[in-house]
Amino acid sequence: DIPSLCDKYKNYFKIGVAVPYKALTNPIDVALIKRHFNSITPENEMKPEALQPYEGGFNFSISDEYMDFCKKNGIAIRGHTLVWHQQTPSWFFQNPQTGEKLTNSEKDKKILLERLKKHIQTVVGRYKGKVYAWDVVNEAIDENQPDGFRRSDWFNILGPEYIEKAFIWAHEADPKAKLFYNDYNTEDPYKREYIYNLIKSLKAKGIPIHGVGVQCHISLNWPDVNEIEETIKLFSKIPGIEIHFTEIDISISKNMVEGDDMYNRSLLIEQAKKLEKIFNVLKKYKNVVKSVTFWGLKDDYSWLQGDFPLLFDKDYQPKFAFWSLIDPSVVP
Ligand code: G3I
Repeated sequence: DIPSLCDKYKNYFKIGVAVPYKALTNPIDVALIKRHFNSITPENEMKPEALQPYEGGFNFSISDEYMDFCKKNGIAIRGHTLVWHQQTPSWFFQNPQTGEKLTNSEKDKKILLERLKKHIQTVVGRYKGKVYAWDVVNEAIDENQPDGFRRSDWFNILGPEYIEKAFIWAHEADPKAKLFYNDYNTEDPYKREYIYNLIKSLKAKGIPIHGVGVQCHISLNWPDVNEIEETIKLFSKIPGIEIHFTEIDISISKNMVEGDDMYNRSLLIEQAKKLEKIFNVLKKYKNVVKSVTFWGLKDDYSWLQGDFPLLFDKDYQPKFAFWSLIDPSVVP
């Protein structure tokens, strides 16, 4: 029998997987999830467009099924995500009477803030005590802006205040849930500095934020594993901040050659070696790194089509990447 991944790491951190709803209805997927993972992130099913497609039209049928599945199987849930510039219906940013885009007038700000509050309180309130960590704000930093803030509709209408409010309201709705800021390319030295400063300033203002999510969508070429370590070191300087690795995948496709199995095999081995190195770093920081999630169960489910970035192949077979986490000596 293939050893269980989450058992192997039980003294370090949770091992999670992002899954689409269809996986919960497939017995083969379910068996694999139950064996290897003790945390689940709904890949798209708890985003604003899924939970509130039109104003006041909350739809919890699918997200409730994730809750039931996880409860039944003793699996923890990461909630993803409350505030994002993508997969958020456009009605959020439209005037309810005219349909025009909201501006940053005081009147319009009030409309959007009320929508933000209602969305967060309804969603987080419903799953109070069930979701152990929320990605409250996702991808709000743009290191190419002088102030570091992405020019999203949220920012353009409300300014940086929306970030603080989101955390405050989420905390009110579930005081025990851990609240995260989540982002990608956190290994970029400029970007991580902006993220660090944001979190530090939120903390300094007493905003209830408990962690930072390092997405870790990476490739064979970038970043170096020591940059991942630098990121952990920097973020863990902030007292009381946990780090979750929230969306790991390691893309190799830029180098894939169709039909060349020997060449591809060497890339899959390279991928495994990189993942092994990453886990060696994560284990060193187990006091701050509390949860490590892969962004997909198997290669053909990945948002990166043709990239082979995950632990299992399309036929459910564990790849070298999987073995590198169980017993690196079996990886050639
Ligand atoms: O739901 C519609 C369906 O009705 C329609 O028929 C179909 C046709 O294209 O599209 C479906 O929506 C897709 C959705 O996933 C659900 O499958 C969207 O097109 C597709 O763009 C969307 O992609 C998701 C992406 O976020 C959106 O930005 C990926 O599955 C998801 O893995 C990805 O996840 C993000 C994290 O949330 C945040 N960090 C980055 C990460 C990767 O992009």
